[in-house]
Amino acid sequence: MLQTQKISTAQGSVTNITLSNHNQTSLIISSLGATLLSFKTQDKKGRLQDIVLGFDAIDDYFNNTDTYFGASVGRIANRTENASFSLNGETFQIAENDGNNNLHSGPNGYQTRIWEVDCLDEVNNQVTFKLESPDGDQGYPGNLTLHISYQLTKDNHLKITYQALADKDTPFSPTNHSYFNLNGHASGSIENHLLKLNASTYTPIRDSKSIPIGDIADVEGTPFDFKNPKTIGQDISQSFDQLELAGGYDHNFILDHPSLQYPFATVIGDKTGIILEAFTDLPGVQFYSGNFLNNHPGKERALYGKRHGFCLETQFFPNAINTPHFPSPVLKANTPTTYQTIYKVGVM
Ligand code: GAL
Repeated sequence: MLQTQKISTAQGSVTNITLSNHNQTSLIISSLGATLLSFKTQDKKGRLQDIVLGFDAIDDYFNNTDTYFGASVGRIANRTENASFSLNGETFQIAENDGNNNLHSGPNGYQTRIWEVDCLDEVNNQVTFKLESPDGDQGYPGNLTLHISYQLTKDNHLKITYQALADKDTPFSPTNHSYFNLNGHASGSIENHLLKLNASTYTPIRDSKSIPIGDIADVEGTPFDFKNPKTIGQDISQSFDQLELAGGYDHNFILDHPSLQYPFATVIGDKTGIILEAFTDLPGVQFYSGNFLNNHPGKERALYGKRHGFCLETQFFPNAINTPHFPSPVLKANTPTTYQTIYKVGVM
């Protein structure tokens, strides 16, 4: 079922869309940032849990430039070294907002803009938002038309689809920045969640600014090995330089088999038995263990502390635009391109 609600904000009217199904699963997505505000599903006792972190007041999402709760991030998620890159012989400068690097393309990130509600599709239980990003927007080349759809299926798949078309070659690596807590958004640390990640390798970072060195490192025998399920917290405090640099997990894992049929990650909430499976056709995922959360006021008066949520940000690798041996994030001119990420929920 699909319902809409218009809300007036400091910067104009936004539309929140609720998608629900017969399993009592429901989502609220806002045209402000094409942001996922709420994701409710039943736990093993039949109680409804909201499993994503967020703000209570819609106006707070205009300032969603620190935590990126539920955000649609673009054109490039994650880091771009020295906030610059070359493409087809031309050098482009984007904003320095993380030391002298760029993080998540901001300021004026897509997650703080009001998107057009392009299509409400009741048959498919799907909403599509549209954003026109002009040539030079945030410093990137080419006019880009971006559609993001959120669909909730009968069997609890949340499908997020990115459809992009640009009139010049341009870097494009979108992500959804939802923080999950499968015990409920206000339930505290996620360190006892069980995680399985089908990634044999990851991209180590050079220093605390988190730009990849460019190496592909094996997870085997390191705290980064989640090939077999273990709790997120099991090895997080080990003295291992990559964990110390980032204050926990905040790294790009290279997916062994990017696929929309087989999950790359399975996570279980230890208190609720809620299972999240994630699928994508993108090559990497930033697994972020919420290390920088620092008593952020959230929904229902929650205070989100360190590691109270985790993100599985599907993407091209960080700084890929400056790293020729990483898969290329370049969206080719006049070539419609689609990426999809699926989060499926259930109970044990
Ligand atoms: C993540 C990033 C983290 C942190 C977070 C937002 O994508 O990797 O380092 O910046 O976003 O707070």
